[in-house]
Amino acid sequence: MEIYLDTANSDHVEFANRYPFLDGITTNPSIIAKESFEHKEIMKHINEKVNGKIWMQVTEEKADRMYEQAMELKDWVDHPVIKLPMTEDGLEAAYLLREKNIEVNMTLIYTLSQVVLAAKANVTYISPYIGRLDDQSLQGQQFIQHAKEIIQSLGASTKIIGASIRTTQVVSDLARFGYDAVTVPFPILKKMFHSPLTQEGLTAFQEDWESYMERTEIHKP
Ligand code: E4P
Repeated sequence: MEIYLDTANSDHVEFANRYPFLDGITTNPSIIAKESFEHKEIMKHINEKVNGKIWMQVTEEKADRMYEQAMELKDWVDHPVIKLPMTEDGLEAAYLLREKNIEVNMTLIYTLSQVVLAAKANVTYISPYIGRLDDQSLQGQQFIQHAKEIIQSLGASTKIIGASIRTTQVVSDLARFGYDAVTVPFPILKKMFHSPLTQEGLTAFQEDWESYMERTEIHKP
């Protein structure tokens, strides 16, 4: 499963850089808006730090303008994925970009009929927003299971990237059930490393080691 970090924060990007097995960085306009630098500067900085795919979202609303913006964004980084909203214009622009062999992601996916159209267009990725679906009692994990079935039935190569992740449990479930990709916010990535039991065990090991070292110090000839 591909794992991305959903951030544009330079400290988070530095952290991700320590783990080259991570697959890249995803962004959206709200994530960029948390930062103080110019969009292009942020993306170029991320590109210097990260080897994987870097996802950037268009902000234009009409298909031709989205296409033009995407053609500009793609040149900012080495391995771009262009995020487009799942709208009439977004899917039109996505198809044009696919014809140029540019990887595209339909974002803000909330219905299975949107999945049908995106899979029919054979876009590279779709992002169902699992957390936001759950917020509306729309059963995010059941939704992506049905989305997977649709993609398989249509014979599309479209990958599902689980987005809007609120818990580490969802990440483990996606991995367990063979989903293609997930993007996690920084706090969730940090939580994935840790367990209080690991820390407790480590503290006990350290205390035992220190006491052993003190004893052997005493018995030194
Ligand atoms: C990813 O494509 C989305 O931008 C992101 O995961 C949304 O997450 P949120 O619902 O926590 O804002």
